[in-house]
Amino acid sequence: MKINMDLKKQIDTSRLPVHVAVIMDGNGRWAKQKGNQRIFGHKNGVVAVREVIEAAAELGIPYVTLYAFSKENWQRPKTEVKGLMTLLVSTIHSEVKTLMKNNIRLCVIGDIDSLPKNVAAELNQAIQQTSNNTGLGLVLALSYGARWEILRAVKRIAADKNLSDADIENLDESTFEKHLSTAGIPDPELLIRTGGEQRISNFLLWQLSYAELFFTNTLWPDFRKSHFYEAIIDFQSRERRFGKTGEQAQKLNKKA
Ligand code: FPP
Repeated sequence: MKINMDLKKQIDTSRLPVHVAVIMDGNGRWAKQKGNQRIFGHKNGVVAVREVIEAAAELGIPYVTLYAFSKENWQRPKTEVKGLMTLLVSTIHSEVKTLMKNNIRLCVIGDIDSLPKNVAAELNQAIQQTSNNTGLGLVLALSYGARWEILRAVKRIAADKNLSDADIENLDESTFEKHLSTAGIPDPELLIRTGGEQRISNFLLWQLSYAELFFTNTLWPDFRKSHFYEAIIDFQSRERRFGKTGEQAQKLNKKA
């Protein structure tokens, strides 16, 4: 508790990332280390999910996106996929009250239509119920893949028969972004990946263009508020240049 408070005090709340994206990795290895089935790791991963949401909401971070299930994850053994879906439904069902109490708004990015009907129904209900909340925006990436998302955006644009050659020529980043599943959500400024791997795994490829990347060996079920604070403190120590020189960036940062 004391460690948490000390770390939290080091955070400059006037320079919080507007959006933190998280790749929650290491559940399977955590369970195996304990001689258990992989689903045991996923179940304990829910504890870490709660910690991160609570920490982000308390700090006043506007958005958190959690990579809960990728398009590629469908290839996992049937029992694991089924276990994860069941866990998702039961967690959403039991946590909606807490989301409401804490003014948290739930959103989902990904191919919702590919989810089992009961999972999609539970999610849609929770999204609907929390839609007027004004606090933390909690985004779950489910059956999500960045290449799928980018391709879908291209298809949506191409399907518009009213577009002239000039419209296509003038297509810009902000128009393109409106066709992504994250439309209206600011790009993540910080990506956290647990579990020791240092890769992006088809997660928010467009949106992470300028994000700071934070990798930790901590396995997801062990991830706590203190780890989250450490990532934010590390983020605040970075110089973000957006392609500019260090001097230019420092001038801009001073103005902000
Ligand atoms: C990756 O670890 C984790 C997942 C694919 C699932 C994450 C799901 C949860 C934490 C549960 C519920 C989430 C919510 C939002 C309610 P891995 O299985 O790839 O681990 P490994 O690399 O050790 O095998």
